[in-house]
Amino acid sequence: MDLFRYATKKAFAATFCVFFGLPSIAVSQDILKMALAGDVEALRMALPEGSNPDPDTLVRPIYFAAQRGHPDAVEFLLEVGAPPDAMTDFGSALQIAARNNHANIVSMLLDRGADPNTRGGDFGNAPIHDAAERGAMDTARVLLKRGADVNLRRGTGDQPAIHLAVRKGRSEMVALLLENGATPLIPSPITVSEFDAIDPKLGRARAEECLFCHSMEIGKQPSTKFAGPDLVGFVGREKAMRDSFKYSDAMKAESGTWAIEELNKFIADPTGVIPGTIMERGAVTDRVERLAVIKYLMNAADKQQ
Ligand code: HEC
Repeated sequence: MDLFRYATKKAFAATFCVFFGLPSIAVSQDILKMALAGDVEALRMALPEGSNPDPDTLVRPIYFAAQRGHPDAVEFLLEVGAPPDAMTDFGSALQIAARNNHANIVSMLLDRGADPNTRGGDFGNAPIHDAAERGAMDTARVLLKRGADVNLRRGTGDQPAIHLAVRKGRSEMVALLLENGATPLIPSPITVSEFDAIDPKLGRARAEECLFCHSMEIGKQPSTKFAGPDLVGFVGREKAMRDSFKYSDAMKAESGTWAIEELNKFIADPTGVIPGTIMERGAVTDRVERLAVIKYLMNAADKQQ
């Protein structure tokens, strides 16, 4: 853009701004830069008392000040009206502060009323998921003390924070989450008569989802990215016994067999029951549907033997 056009555009934006009492686009971009740099003096000059900026224009600035770890800038932006629950396409200010272990900023946002359990960003993470994944111990402690639900599931795949911590090998974090009550969603046990009464046909549609990742031929794996081991004779089979399949460490550490009750638990909440499993999809939370899927696959598996 040539200088004249740039100047005209800026002047137009400034006039618009004065006329409607809104910060212009150019001014917002300057504020974003100041927030990124944590330059509180510049922010004070750009947003003097009584300037009443539109809170929406402060969402990205507070997010980036929180990301870079500038508590003074975050505090100033809150004072001039930035929302403590500021949410961008990449997630909330609280999430990014938690992820980067800026405990003082996390405390400040919570003091101003940010909800510790709001989820956002690409994976629908709550702040505790970000902290767990990154091993951000300080912010995890603050969040857990101040109302973060240790068992909240992220939007993608219903995974709990402990699963993300195990996947990244963060043992100190795993211990902290366990101390704070991380626990799987365990369904009540299945009775024989309940299982007998289930119509396996009901499970056909949901079983398609399993068969996307699991084959019914010994040693075969579907060519999908996250494919699992075959399920031939899987009911009663020893856990993690297919030599041709590269199981997760979490699954390899399991012992015993896939009795129906074990399957009931695992399929109800795979990443909660075996945190660190690479089966990150496929949970069937509805009880009848879950039993029907097991029964349907059991019949399909029997036919293959
Ligand atoms: C997105 C792909 C995917 C989907 C969908 C999926 N699984 Fe899995 N499954 C896996 C992977 C990968 C593993 C290996 C897990 C590990 O090593 O941690 C696995 C492991 C298993 C195991 C343990 C097998 C063994 O040899 O110990 C069982 C049982 C199982 N899945 C059943 C199911 C059922 C039933 C469904 C459907 C409700 C299902 N899975 C849906 C990918 C998937």
